Amino acid sequence: MTTASSADHPTRRDFLFVATGAAAAVGGAAALWPFISQMNPDASTIAAGAPIDVDLSPIAEGQDIKVFWRGKPIYISHRTKKQIDEARAVNVASLPDPQTDEARVKAGHEQWLVVIGICTHLGCIPIAHEGNYDGFFCPCHGSQYDSSGRIRQGPAPANLPVPPYQFVSDTKIQIG
Ligand code: FES
Repeated sequence: MTTASSADHPTRRDFLFVATGAAAAVGGAAALWPFISQMNPDASTIAAGAPIDVDLSPIAEGQDIKVFWRGKPIYISHRTKKQIDEARAVNVASLPDPQTDEARVKAGHEQWLVVIGICTHLGCIPIAHEGNYDGFFCPCHGSQYDSSGRIRQGPAPANLPVPPYQFVSDTKIQIG
């Protein structure tokens, strides 16, 4: 008897390919983003998985930063009006994972998008400000997310998840 197809059961070789791609994406992205070390909590706080506070005030419009929460990359995008307008002009019913932009951001803080930066296909790290939708591009297999982090094209089945967070002031969020 032959064994089952590997399509449904990723092989070790598949895993290594994905892991390498993710590392490359992180390395490339890290060079582009400002290093805002004071925003990150100390290592023991991260390890404990505690909520983290992030000061948004240094993030210019059109800029993205990445922080880590519970070992996951979190992208925080200070969206331009153009990006917000594009996200809201989409026919939601046409999306693979239908969700309004309003449901993915906080009312009164529409300029801020906060998403977990892990591709919903096989877990690579998408690159911000890349791709056809003014959002995120995953280099591993070509998934494209829009400026709301919603999947628009490629094999990923779902939108980039929004982590639990809240605004504790106009310029500070708490993630977790
Ligand atoms: S991991 Fe396959 S497209 Fe992102």
